Amino acid sequence: MYIGFKDEILLKQAPNCFYFYFGKQSYSFSTEINETAFQIIKLLNGQFTINEIIENLSIRYNEPSKAVREKVLNFINSIAALIDYSEHRLKNKVINSGSNEYYTPHFAIIELTHNCPLRCKHCFLNAGLGETADFNKLKTVIQKMIKFGIVNIQLTGGEPFVYSEIEEIIDMLIAAKISISITTSGFVFNPKVKRIIDKLVDKKTLIQVSLDGLKNTHDEIRQVKGTYKKVLEFIKYCVEKKLTVAIATTIIDQEYEEVFQLSKILRDIGVRQHRIGSIIELGRSKENNIKTVNVEKIVSNLKKELETETFIVQTQENINPCKECNCGSGFKIIKMSPNFDINPCIISDTIIGNLNIDDWQEIFKRNSNVFSSLKRPFRDSICIDCDKKEQCNNCMAQGVAQYQNTGECAWYEKYYKPAILSFDKDLYYERA
Ligand SMILES: C[S@@+](CC[C@H](N)C(=O)[O-])C[C@H]1O[C@@H](n2cnc3c(N)ncnc32)[C@H](O)[C@@H]1O
Ligand code: SF4
Ligand code: SF4
Repeated sequence: MYIGFKDEILLKQAPNCFYFYFGKQSYSFSTEINETAFQIIKLLNGQFTINEIIENLSIRYNEPSKAVREKVLNFINSIAALIDYSEHRLKNKVINSGSNEYYTPHFAIIELTHNCPLRCKHCFLNAGLGETADFNKLKTVIQKMIKFGIVNIQLTGGEPFVYSEIEEIIDMLIAAKISISITTSGFVFNPKVKRIIDKLVDKKTLIQVSLDGLKNTHDEIRQVKGTYKKVLEFIKYCVEKKLTVAIATTIIDQEYEEVFQLSKILRDIGVRQHRIGSIIELGRSKENNIKTVNVEKIVSNLKKELETETFIVQTQENINPCKECNCGSGFKIIKMSPNFDINPCIISDTIIGNLNIDDWQEIFKRNSNVFSSLKRPFRDSICIDCDKKEQCNNCMAQGVAQYQNTGECAWYEKYYKPAILSFDKDLYYERA
């Protein structure tokens, strides 16, 4: 009997471990079983029988086939639900990517454009009239990302739904079975956007919509009247279509009671996640002197009062709950601007490459080990004596922003600066 996976899988190497992605699920394996499991998965391409796989590995590792058989059968049993058997060769593919010497990201955040019909008071990007990604170049870059192991793409902006070719990009991602998320203000809601949402039904897409308060607050923050009404229509449409909807609320000076009322409305219309974020003091929030406040208390109270099995409240940081380890920015996650600059995360303005100039793999050969070994600011150690620790809350981008705004940050001085100074000066720079 030939043996293979039920569906196409992506097998991706990284230093000290490897991942494989089956459908929308990811599995990762640590060093101990790394090499053997990696080799077994490579051979589970539907072209071999179990005996052929055992024989192949027994020769490769110069081990008796009895010992190899046990390892192979144990491993296959551990992933039995994903495996298919047939008397004929199976057609499914194992796509191999990554490297055991350096990381390549699996999650890319793509800013399609810095154009936006809104002028939010706090927008870190200063979005409004801005740059837009060249469509032909973007297609080529996305194809490369997919080839080198990106499995999840977030489309954002500015406003992603004003990008003329967003539908073509989404068609391309659906065809490549990439998991898609879209971050939007929900303000642009026209027949084309409805058609795009309809295409995303049953594709496990996450739509993150910004909603910062009830009517007056939201319209005031977003600087355009009628925004609240439109965004609620958009949210309801996405919920009706059974897409997973998360709402992002950025806390400026909203009272708890208002955020509570908002969260309750969202829960009642079928939103799945309410994400409460704090301000990053950059762009218009800096110009408008809008300061970061810690949102943990708001979140813990909302959790107690409103969470159900189908509705969760979280801080943006809880989305990535590991406090001590690095969040992955710059090596597992990257952000690309409309001019193809690559930054380590959505709010970082450290530029680690540009896909107009650089080769994808060169960027990560050069930088990913710097980012993977970078310690993040941690409240109980490097930040312990800093009065900003509540605001920064273990986030590297907050530390960088604090340093840029005040010239002071112990974490930046001790960890970030030496790390980025190790880059080639011609290849790395921070925006002025
Ligand atoms: C830059 S916007 C892009 C997508 C879309 N235009 C929107 O507003 O959702 C992405 C998210 O960043 C949030 N945001 C903007 N400026 C921010 C700042 N200075 N600090 C924290 N979050 C901010 C927005 O409220 C929004 O939820
Ligand atoms: S936060 Fe979003 S909607 Fe507001 S100006 Fe920035 S990009 Fe536009
Ligand atoms: S400013 Fe720097 S040292 Fe202070 S809490 Fe933020 S990251 Fe830590």
